[in-house]
Amino acid sequence: MRKWREWAGPGIAFGGDYNPEQWPRETWDEDVVLMREAGVTFVSLGIFSWSHLQPAPDRWEFGWLDDAMDLLHANGVAVDLATATASPPPWFSRRFPETLPQRADGTRLWQGSRQAWCPSSTVFTEHATALAEKVATRYADHPALTMWHVSNEYGCHDVPCHCDTCAAAFRVWLLARYGDLDGVNEAWGTAFWSQRYGEIEEIVPPRTVPTFANPGQVLDYRRFQSDALLGQYRAELEVLRRVTPDVPVTTNFMTNDHFRHLDYAAWAEHVDVLSTDHYVVGALADPEAELAFTADHTRGLAGGDPWLLMEHSTSAVNWQPVNVAKRPGQMMRHSLGHVARGADALGFFQWRASRAGAEKYHSGLVPHAGTDSRLWREVVELGAVAGRLAEVRGSRVDAEVALLWDHHADWACDQEAHPSAEVRYGAVAHDLHASLRRQGVTVDVVPVSDAVTTTPDLTGYRVVLVPTLYLTSDATAAAVQAAADAGAHVVVTYFSGIVDERDHVRLGGYPGAFRDLLGVRVEEFAPVLPGVSLRLDGRLVAGAHGTTWAEDLTCTDAEAVTSFVDGPVPGVPAVTRRGLGGGEGEGTGAGAGGAAWYVATRLDPSGTDALTSRVLAEAGVAPVVPDVPVGVDVTRRRDGDRSWLFVVNHTDAEVTLDVSGHDLVTQRAVGAADEAAGLLRVAAGGCAVVREARDEAVAPEA
Ligand code: GLA
Ligand code: ZN
Repeated sequence: MRKWREWAGPGIAFGGDYNPEQWPRETWDEDVVLMREAGVTFVSLGIFSWSHLQPAPDRWEFGWLDDAMDLLHANGVAVDLATATASPPPWFSRRFPETLPQRADGTRLWQGSRQAWCPSSTVFTEHATALAEKVATRYADHPALTMWHVSNEYGCHDVPCHCDTCAAAFRVWLLARYGDLDGVNEAWGTAFWSQRYGEIEEIVPPRTVPTFANPGQVLDYRRFQSDALLGQYRAELEVLRRVTPDVPVTTNFMTNDHFRHLDYAAWAEHVDVLSTDHYVVGALADPEAELAFTADHTRGLAGGDPWLLMEHSTSAVNWQPVNVAKRPGQMMRHSLGHVARGADALGFFQWRASRAGAEKYHSGLVPHAGTDSRLWREVVELGAVAGRLAEVRGSRVDAEVALLWDHHADWACDQEAHPSAEVRYGAVAHDLHASLRRQGVTVDVVPVSDAVTTTPDLTGYRVVLVPTLYLTSDATAAAVQAAADAGAHVVVTYFSGIVDERDHVRLGGYPGAFRDLLGVRVEEFAPVLPGVSLRLDGRLVAGAHGTTWAEDLTCTDAEAVTSFVDGPVPGVPAVTRRGLGGGEGEGTGAGAGGAAWYVATRLDPSGTDALTSRVLAEAGVAPVVPDVPVGVDVTRRRDGDRSWLFVVNHTDAEVTLDVSGHDLVTQRAVGAADEAAGLLRVAAGGCAVVREARDEAVAPEA
């Protein structure tokens, strides 16, 4: 496999989606001149160009793409070449209307937008792989080709599809998973509500039904749709491997918090380099917190290795209700925020903002205003900074805290007919992540999935966070237990460990998968209505309260950290702690004997911070740099004995840090490295990437 780390030049790769087919040929000449000016090192080419490459079933037109490839190569721009299969042309949908996706209520989605194809369609596979083969064969030896970009954002618009083709493929998938129909009946608990299936053909996708659908059917359907799309990806991958075995292959994920349709943990095993797209959601209370979470999650999917930010935006997008433009400096902060958490490439959608079409109000690297614009000047500046970060490439991010994320838990948790519709997967995960971010502690978001063969090893972490892991497989429970045995502090929050992989309740008292580890037993849930605030005694921190959840909990082998004062279960513990192993109360850190913490309510931010700071202190986890104000992100990337400190100042005040080394952004020495320069000062809204001075006190071993 050609090493992608050397991909697209020595710096942090910089570029984005290039759609030359939208523009007259003269514009391309201007494009490459501007790409050089901005320091663009790569483009993703031709993602939506199927109808240009194959304008009719038996007509192929590659001349324009040959020209674009030659032009880019002549200008030193590496190409991440699309297989161009993201969106089939109108002739395809007209000729094969059965490939159009179908909603749960039977509505067929029409051609006229994009990605109007059914995930299970073998007709689609046949045509997509034929196109991929043509593209791969034609450009196999082209010097501009450096990476394959398969399709685009799988599942963005076409899952779940409920058509008859999917129904048939679902039956095959079920028989492979459960062996026979009895296995399906058992897994889905069809003894309930007269749902027992006598023949496999009776099974259909979870279409619109009179009342609650079968939860096992819904969960398996989501698994199946993710697998169906993975099958489409793998069909193209197989072609690319055969034709160009040395060219790395990727497809851009959507690890943004709002996209939850694919089990990326399972997908990650099939890409050579993990790439993702991230768009800031303006309506969030703290959009940068979501960015940080997503970047940490993407790194987790990459197994801690560097990853590629394939797309983000220079300024506004066009698909939110109100599209907030980025203020001066914000693009730089968002970009370096991703690099700080492991990205080795900064891609954007798209090179030139469109003049026509559904995305014409989406920002690009070249805005409608042209190059005499603040945005273009910031693009040129960012390109220069990306080039200066070459030495950072390939390094990894330090983290001592893991937070588990599982799409299967998500798909099972957020179903209807549960104790409380207010419990949403991911909410507490974000609470905890935001709390650690406020305290300057970096978190690895670690994906777990019962669809992957190897469960992650959590034993190297000092703290393991298990938020709302409603569905917990035996393997995941064992991995958490192993971390606890190795001395970690484990924090489990309410509605975790409740069901197994089939969404069957683990009996004998909640939370079945973690009851023994936590030393608690819950007889009954006691969720509270929206707006109800549950007072806690002041033992955690004065004034802390909970919302959403309470439960009738007994400590079997744990102590209460704080208890409810009012609400449905006054006097009952709301947070518990069970000390583990020897050395309790003595040393800290892995091996010293950790603790198992349980949180039975949704703590407010002050309560969350009080809890996490106590856990971190006991576990011996310190912030990357002490005393950093909230709103300033500090992370460290490391490569052997070299390290770089990233400081991204989202606040409107200058920040001063006692750090020394060389700032690659301003190209100046800071701290003890230069007495005159003094401490590191990062301007309001500014960024620094400091190559840290090596500790001279530690003499290298002879
Ligand atoms: C996604 C797609 C792009 C574009 C952007 C707009 O990331 O991959 O083609 O539509 O969204 O934000
Ligand atoms: Zn379908």
